[in-house]
Amino acid sequence: MKQTIFRRHRQLEGWPLVFTILVTVGILVGGLVEFIPLVLVKDNVPRIASVKPFTPLEAVGRDLYIREGCVNCHSQMIRPFRAEIERYGDFTKAGETVYEHPFLWGSKRTGPDLQRIGGKYPNLWHVRHMEDPRSTNPQSIMPPYAWLLKDDLDFAVIPGRLRALSRVGVPYTDAEIADAVANAERQATAIAQDVAAQGGPAGLERKEIVALVAYLQRMGTDVRTSQAPAGATATDVATPDSVH
Ligand code: HEC
Repeated sequence: MKQTIFRRHRQLEGWPLVFTILVTVGILVGGLVEFIPLVLVKDNVPRIASVKPFTPLEAVGRDLYIREGCVNCHSQMIRPFRAEIERYGDFTKAGETVYEHPFLWGSKRTGPDLQRIGGKYPNLWHVRHMEDPRSTNPQSIMPPYAWLLKDDLDFAVIPGRLRALSRVGVPYTDAEIADAVANAERQATAIAQDVAAQGGPAGLERKEIVALVAYLQRMGTDVRTSQAPAGATATDVATPDSVH
């Protein structure tokens, strides 16, 4: 029996064309069996009900984060180890990043992980830190991004960005996209007013910095209940853990 199978196999190998076709069919069937359930079964993508897509302003803030290369120094991926959880907060769940295109998990930590930065500091702290990291932490080696406070945010690009994200599966509705610019302006105004009320620079509502701050304040908060204490100001917050 074994001998016959062996002989048949040898014979098959002697017919290169037939053999190639059979191997291709074999790989295709195997591939489809693996692939079809992955695409069809929705549960393969772990989702968390409280994780929602970014607001329009946060989404463009994320684009600025990409443009400025923040991911080169900051990861957004807290590993499930005690040392990481105690330092940065709850570890990153797969379902938290389902709306991120492209993902920004990062692989370099010149600065601390930012996955749970949302709510850690007041808005004004971020404005000051971006303008000059040495103002909040004298030993910081992070470069300043002062132009974010001067350059105007291009609100007109927002609907296109959301439409692109919806193409790759982020569930923005047409109504949300139509309202995106107004929505972003409302959120930008609220952040700018908060910054001014805390004694920071006034008139930031159309500047790039508000979008970046909106994004940073959202990061990692969808699955978390604790927030920064209400009414905290930039000077209340000590930053011992941002020293490296
Ligand atoms: C050259 C590396 C480098 C780059 C690029 C960089 N950072 Fe940093 N970042 C650091 C370092 C180092 C620290 C810690 C010292 C400090 O607080 O400034 C830090 C701290 C931070 C913190 C405070 C974290 C905490 O938990 O206290 C935030 C927020 C932050 N960076 C945001 C950004 C953003 C947004 C960008 C892009 C616009 C950026 N960083 C780009 C190195 C970098």
